[in-house]
Amino acid sequence: MTTVKFYGGEAIPLEMHKVRIVQKLHLPPVERRLEAMNEAGNNTFLLQNVEVFMDMLTDSGVNAMSDQQLAAMMIADDSYAGSATYTRLESKLRELFGMHYILPTHQGRACENILAQVLVSPGTVVPMNYHFTTTKAHITLNGGSIEELVAEEGLEVVSVHPFKGNMDIAKLRAVIANHGATQIAFVRMEAGTNLIGGQPFSLQNLADVRQVCDEHGLLLVLDASLLADNLYFVKEREEACKDMSIREITRRFADLSDVIYFSARKLGCVRGGGMCMRSEDLYRRMRGLVPLYEGFLTYGGMSVREIEALTVGLEETMDEDMINQGPLFIAYMVEELERRGIPVITPAGGLGCHINALKFLDHIPQSEYPAGALASALYIASGIRGMERGTLSEQREPDGTEVFANMELLRLALPRRVFTLSQVKYAIDRIQWLYDNRRLVGGLVFTEEPEILRFFFGRLTPVSNWQQELVAKFRQDFGDSL
Ligand code: F0G
Repeated sequence: MTTVKFYGGEAIPLEMHKVRIVQKLHLPPVERRLEAMNEAGNNTFLLQNVEVFMDMLTDSGVNAMSDQQLAAMMIADDSYAGSATYTRLESKLRELFGMHYILPTHQGRACENILAQVLVSPGTVVPMNYHFTTTKAHITLNGGSIEELVAEEGLEVVSVHPFKGNMDIAKLRAVIANHGATQIAFVRMEAGTNLIGGQPFSLQNLADVRQVCDEHGLLLVLDASLLADNLYFVKEREEACKDMSIREITRRFADLSDVIYFSARKLGCVRGGGMCMRSEDLYRRMRGLVPLYEGFLTYGGMSVREIEALTVGLEETMDEDMINQGPLFIAYMVEELERRGIPVITPAGGLGCHINALKFLDHIPQSEYPAGALASALYIASGIRGMERGTLSEQREPDGTEVFANMELLRLALPRRVFTLSQVKYAIDRIQWLYDNRRLVGGLVFTEEPEILRFFFGRLTPVSNWQQELVAKFRQDFGDSL
């Protein structure tokens, strides 16, 4: 991507790629969208994709591959053991991260399973800038707990802070002093911090965390799933890094870490995962779990075709014109929404655009799931599928008490190289219409609430007939338009 100025003065993000394979989309009429949303129990995870116009649920496993990636898939070596395809991936990871020991997995959470099984024991603690759902689940499953130490500005929805994913170093020292270094399983830093809006941390912050880890002999683990966005922001926003290449910044990140793991559903635009480390001892302790849970050491549950595409995808991540596509489209969307007075997380981060549902729907109490209601209403208004990232995504306390989330967000992911600017403009327009009609939107209540992972499987219903009123207003304003 590059940003160009139009003759009239407007600046827009311009794609530095062309589209050579297309997939037909379908936009059902608003009445059908209302029915589909109710058939899905007002849960966007339960929608059928044929009913979805723009799928902004996630950027996981749905980024567009390049021609080079697709071409590489044809030369895959599918031998069970000792595959040349795997050797190519191993060499690329060693080259980029400078770490010798590599373990492949079928996706990111599989790395978390192995890391937690080996490093976490009952009573241990994992300090981190912020949790991701699967990370926290694996740590607690192994008897550990987490401490979230994101700097204060990380939880401020509206901010101009360039690195909202930074860890608060004083808090890290306090947690170590409080629990004792021997109780710390490892320290985890998440690049492009997902649940607070795809917010990056700075290279300086990682160096500061490293120093504290060195003082106490602690292992520093980097979750690099959203590394591409974080690399781009470090180059853009960190004065000391503006003349470094993406490759150099990558190596700096790696040199400061002991273990790097990633979801290749995000990093590398394929479907898979992997772990890289410097310690032979740690490698030997984790190695045995790969054939047990994933597959043999030279494929780790990934298809060999995906592995070939991953090797190319990792190299393409070093190209600034490639990795800036997400952040520039997201910035365009966030800034346009902000200009229209619509509450969004600022500054624009990676992954997607995050709408602050608590403010957008400030008449809906958290007990009626404003972010879930917004996801439901936006699908009805536009055929766009987003993801609730708020109280619905939390779990009740054992006694049934609701845990209200810090933030009530509707995440609209922008998978890389998938949408065009006119589609993004459509999304902005329909969000604005919904904002102007926000008082019509009401809350949701559960009709079926599973005990675990309720956001995946739970079903809800509107508290009133607000959805019918929303459809009537849509018809009034848009006539017979889709
Ligand atoms: N770490 C981070 C930061 C993630 O965002 C994810 C996945 C994982 C680990 C787990 O990786 O899905 O390959 O097992 N995030 C997806 C999302 C699910 O939609 O944001 P995985």
